[in-house]
Amino acid sequence: MNYTEGSATIADGKAFINPKAKLSRDATIAYARLQPGIKNALDATSATGIRGIRYCKELGLEEVTLLEINKSSYGSLKSNVESNSLKNAKHENISVQEFCNREQPMKFDMIDVDPFGSPAPYMFDILKVAHENSIIAFTATDTAVLCGAHLSACIKTYDAVPMHNELGHEAGIRILIGFFARLAAQFNYGVELGLSFSYMHYMRAIVKLVKGSKAALSSVKKLGFAYKCRKCGWVGSEQGPFTRISRCPLCSSEIETSGRMWLGSLIDDDLRPELAKSMGEVMGSDKREYKFMESLALEPDMPFYYSIPKLTKLMHLPSISELVLAKRLVEAGHVASTTHFEKNCIKTDATIEEIKAAITSISKNGA
Ligand SMILES: C[S@@+](CC[C@H](N)C(=O)[O-])C[C@H]1O[C@@H](n2cnc3c(N)ncnc32)[C@H](O)[C@@H]1O
Repeated sequence: MNYTEGSATIADGKAFINPKAKLSRDATIAYARLQPGIKNALDATSATGIRGIRYCKELGLEEVTLLEINKSSYGSLKSNVESNSLKNAKHENISVQEFCNREQPMKFDMIDVDPFGSPAPYMFDILKVAHENSIIAFTATDTAVLCGAHLSACIKTYDAVPMHNELGHEAGIRILIGFFARLAAQFNYGVELGLSFSYMHYMRAIVKLVKGSKAALSSVKKLGFAYKCRKCGWVGSEQGPFTRISRCPLCSSEIETSGRMWLGSLIDDDLRPELAKSMGEVMGSDKREYKFMESLALEPDMPFYYSIPKLTKLMHLPSISELVLAKRLVEAGHVASTTHFEKNCIKTDATIEEIKAAITSISKNGA
C-alpha cells in the first residue's frame, strides 16, 4: 500500500518507513520554512527518500541530494523520487561517510541525519559538507543509552555519563547536543539551537552552525554537568569543564552527577511565536502532533525540572497535581510549567525550598 505524508507519496517497497517519525519530518520543515537562504539539502540516510522528497517540495529547494547505503532500499528510493516527479533530486547508493570524504565535496545549506540508533558515527563526516549557517538536523533512537539504561554504552558513544532517573530524557538530549557541539568546535563552528525535543522512541535536534573559533569556544563553554541529590531531591547544573560539586549544597548528601552535556538553550527563543504557527501550517489537521509542538514552544527554556510525585513522597505527603502547583508558583511570580520530557514534572525558577513550601501549603489548605 502507498503511504502519503505531506507532499510525498511513497510506494510499498523494500526500504524502511516509519509513520511515527512524521513529527520529526514535519517539525524540521516547520523550522526550516522560517530560515532564509536554504537552497539545497542533503538527506544523508534516506531509506524511502520521504524526508528529502518532502524537504525539496515543501521548502521549494533548488536541489536535494539523497544517500542510501543499502542496495534494495536505494532501489525503492530511486523509484519514489521518480514517482514523485522530483526533477531536482540527485541520489546515490553510497555511505554518507564515503560521500563526505570525496575530494572537493559539495556543501549543503541543510543536512539531515536520521539513522537507526545513534547519529554519532555520522556527525564528524557530515561537518565536512557543511558551511557557515548550515542547518544540521539529527535523530537519535538509542534513547535507552542516552537515558542511562546502559552507562558504558553512553560513555563509549558520547563520552558522557547519563542520568538514570526522571531527568534522563532531558539529560539525554543535552548529552547528544553536547557531543555534536564538541565535534563542531573541531571545525571551528559554534552551534545555535533551533529546536530540540524527545518524542516517543526518538530524540531530535536541529542546530545552526556559526563560523569562527570564538563561536566554537563559546559553545563548548556551555557544556557542563547536571546534579540530583539522592536524599532531599535538589536538582542543579553548572557549566564548565570540571564538576565543582561533590555533595548536595543543601543537605550535604550524595548526589548523582551526569555530563558533560549541553547546558545552553534547547530552542531558538526568537522563533517561538512563528514556530508554533509554522507547525500548524505544516502539520495541518494532525491535532496530537500540533498540541505536542504547541506545548513545546511554550515550555520554559531552562535546564531540568522537579518530579512532583518524587518530591511529595520525600516529604511524606500525598501527591498533588503538578498543574495546581505550577499555577501557585506562577501566582507567586515564578516561571513554572510542565515539561514534555517527563510526566508530572515542572520546570521552574523557584528554589526547591519554595517548591516544597508551595506543596505543603496546597496539601494543607487545598488549591
Ligand atoms: C531510519 S532509516 C531512515 C529513515 C528516513 N530518514 C525517514 O525519514 O523515513 C535509516 C537508513 O539509513 C541507511 N544507512 C545506514 N547507514 C548508512 C550510511 N553509512 N550511509 C547512508 N545510509 C545509511 C539505512 O540503510 C536505512 O535505510
